[in-house]
Amino acid sequence: MHAIAIHPGKTGAIRVERPEPVVSADNDVVIDVVEVGVCGTDREEVSGGRADAPPGSDELVIGHEMRGRVVEAGKGVTDLHAGDDVVLTVRRGCGHCGPCNAGRPGFCESGDYTERGIRGRDGYQCERVVDDRGNIIPVPKGVAAVAVLAEPTSVAEKAIAEAILIQRARLPEYDEVGKRALVAGIGPVGLLAAMALKLRGFDVTGMDIVDEDANRVVGLKAMSARYIDGREVQATDLDAHHAGPFDLILDATGAAAVEINLIDALATNGVYVLTGIPSGGREIPVAAGDLLRELVLGNKLVVGSVNASHEHFALAIRDLELALAKWPGVIEAFITSRHTPGEFERAFGKPADTDIKTVIAWAK
Ligand code: BGC
Repeated sequence: MHAIAIHPGKTGAIRVERPEPVVSADNDVVIDVVEVGVCGTDREEVSGGRADAPPGSDELVIGHEMRGRVVEAGKGVTDLHAGDDVVLTVRRGCGHCGPCNAGRPGFCESGDYTERGIRGRDGYQCERVVDDRGNIIPVPKGVAAVAVLAEPTSVAEKAIAEAILIQRARLPEYDEVGKRALVAGIGPVGLLAAMALKLRGFDVTGMDIVDEDANRVVGLKAMSARYIDGREVQATDLDAHHAGPFDLILDATGAAAVEINLIDALATNGVYVLTGIPSGGREIPVAAGDLLRELVLGNKLVVGSVNASHEHFALAIRDLELALAKWPGVIEAFITSRHTPGEFERAFGKPADTDIKTVIAWAK
């Protein structure tokens, strides 16, 4: 079968052939890939950045945001059948740390985890995949058309769940309804975070550096969230005139200078959760004393969040279903371009301001 791979550490992607996956264990499920999203991590991998091939190989099939359809299942799988719509999680646990053994590889402590399409395990940019039932989330028919967004949504869901869980642990009276949330960077993860936050009753502001008529701003506003253009308002100026300060900030920019200065926009007792992964190596001048003093005097909290477990994928599917009903046509429009597998070079190219999510369609 056809697949798209990279040589980790080198620039560019190539078309490769792989054997057809088959059921080889009782809990295996063979899945036809329908479509696979392209994100910043894929583009980083294709530019020679962070990625690892499976042991013994120098090629990695990329892609970690998929939706597919069940072809056949092993005899231990009784609840999935041919034709069912499904999505797959990304991370596979190390098998020897507490969180991984508890089914939460998003919190792997050993660092020995793998990630399909990213780290040591082939991904989903191919015609067919096989995986264990435990890594599969069924998708209701009504959500299938946008289920390729489940993975970026799951990343947002984990970050939000963490923030709310921590707040409830330290402030039992915490109630998110009406609280002010800022999402910095309204690419797919940011927009889907805005969606999940709106569904939980937050008052949501999104920030980016694109014009008001960009698709992502139109999508944000269609969910009754406000937009701030980060070219006009600095992270350190998000005061009451700009809907701040914020009780919850979710960063999805991956831009270190923005990420660090957003601490300044946190309200008293606020929580700031970072999902963007900045490239390292660059020094940034910051008013460290001011930012740290604010953290202490305001009981403010900064927390990182990566990946997502099964439970967050389930939340993602639920929230996508709610959002499809609440804002008809809005979530569907987050998928701005579909390419054939042969057009992978275009799909992995620099996205335009008008793009939100680019996907490669492997099947109808
Ligand atoms: C993916 C996550 C992954 C992270 C780190 C992100 O792009 O969405 O699933 O854990 O990269 O590799």
